[in-house]
Amino acid sequence: MTSKNWLAQALSQALTKPLTHLVNLDQPLDFEGYVQAGGYIGATKALTQLTPKEVLAIVSDSGLKGRGGAGFPTGMKWSCVPALQEQSNQAQPSYLICNGDEMEPGTFKDRYLLEGVPQQLIEAMIIASYTISADKAFLFLRGEYQLAATRLQQAIDQAYENNWLGKNIQGTNYQLDLYLHTSAGRYICGEETALINALEGKRAIPRAKPPFPQVSGLFGKPTVVNNVETLSNLPHILKHGSQWFKDLSPHSDPGTKMYSACGQVKNPGVWELPMGVTIRELLYDYAGGMKEGVKLKGLLPGGASTDFLVEQHLDTPMDFDSIAKAGSRLGTGGLIVLDDKHCPVAMVLNLLRFFAQESCGWCTPCRDGTPWAVEILTRIEQGKGSLADMAQLADLCDFMWLGKTHCALAPGAVEPLKSAMRYFKDDFEQHIELGCCPYQSNSNEQQQESQGVQPELAKRVTAGVNQGGENDE
Ligand SMILES: Cc1cc2nc3c(=O)[nH]c(=O)nc-3n(C[C@H](O)[C@H](O)[C@H](O)COP(=O)(O)O)c2cc1C
Ligand code: SF4
Repeated sequence: MTSKNWLAQALSQALTKPLTHLVNLDQPLDFEGYVQAGGYIGATKALTQLTPKEVLAIVSDSGLKGRGGAGFPTGMKWSCVPALQEQSNQAQPSYLICNGDEMEPGTFKDRYLLEGVPQQLIEAMIIASYTISADKAFLFLRGEYQLAATRLQQAIDQAYENNWLGKNIQGTNYQLDLYLHTSAGRYICGEETALINALEGKRAIPRAKPPFPQVSGLFGKPTVVNNVETLSNLPHILKHGSQWFKDLSPHSDPGTKMYSACGQVKNPGVWELPMGVTIRELLYDYAGGMKEGVKLKGLLPGGASTDFLVEQHLDTPMDFDSIAKAGSRLGTGGLIVLDDKHCPVAMVLNLLRFFAQESCGWCTPCRDGTPWAVEILTRIEQGKGSLADMAQLADLCDFMWLGKTHCALAPGAVEPLKSAMRYFKDDFEQHIELGCCPYQSNSNEQQQESQGVQPELAKRVTAGVNQGGENDE
């Protein structure tokens, strides 16, 4: 396809696939190409026609919720920054941090945006920084995302060359410096307060809250941390308006969402779809259904730290409220699919090993609880467990649950474990009764996987990232 045809096709999807219509993984648009494709219209509107409070009002009205996992309303988060408080008339300096740490197993949506359309994120960060009166912004990037790092640095350099960063941006009084920081590489660095500690050069452990970062964050200054996908919506909300954003989804949660699927599906990948597509549509229309010879057993709907759902949940819309009502979390929107030929105990053990390895060690329930769960699960998976072990695991889940730890890593580890014991109780008990793994005939592949979830996922990510499935319109 010629570049002219590519652009024409891309622009025809501008209103339905705002985040991804300009994605080009082979050769992302440079500054000029991005401007020709309609880039920087949103930032121009914000900086030259609107006050920060007016931008805040548009973003709040759009109903945008954070895409980093928790689904917190973006406008509400920003409104806690002192410069945007009702009574505040003068801008107080603050910081913006874009969270591009993306280390959640089974999640690779941000990478697609970071590598495929880096200019969009820079524009988005300028809009967010202007709104919260930040004169410094940081892009905290997963260290392994080296291609993204190169492309983002080029985009930042071009934004400086074209006076979208630096002093007196586009002739206004506004100034902003943007720094790319590549992480040294721990999962906990994605937790926003651990991330702030890491940026300050300290050990990456979460901070006790309050104070929340919006009030006292990086170097004690008001700081907003937002996810890559969350921020990437901003140029489009500014350009097309909040009503357009709401109309993108037939559900109460507005906008589109980056969804992905991995596991034994025919067409693993990542897609931008209206918020609230059902699990069935995502699994069968986009991910192509299960591979020949395997059946669906269960799935984690939003990355590794969400609860399993099963066949009965297939018609659940993938939005924050509906997935919560079904007993799980939308999380990152990354489906991890479990089939009937893979052992659920081994899968959960694999995930728990990851969480135990990545625990920062600050609080006892997580530091001691996650390796203890690994020890018990290993015993059960090897056929050496007992029913008392099951009871012990259930106790551990309570011990590591929300409110008992400083951050959500341990409760996140509990979610797949607790739900697996509910939905796949028979599998756990069979291990105990038989004295071995009932899935042993498939165990070669599992053993390879249990060496660590990351290498396997890395393969799936490389194979899976595409620009849309067969049915992707
Ligand atoms: C252990 C852990 C890891 C996290 N990793 C990420 C991450 O890689 N990227 C991300 O955006 N949010 C991550 N989060 C959530 C962040 O703490 C924070 O809520 C998010 O970046 C806020 O952005 P949003 O409001 O735009 O969703 C993580 C949270 C926890 C507890
Ligand atoms: S829950 Fe785990 S990762 Fe989070 S602060 Fe406690 S020990 Fe650290």
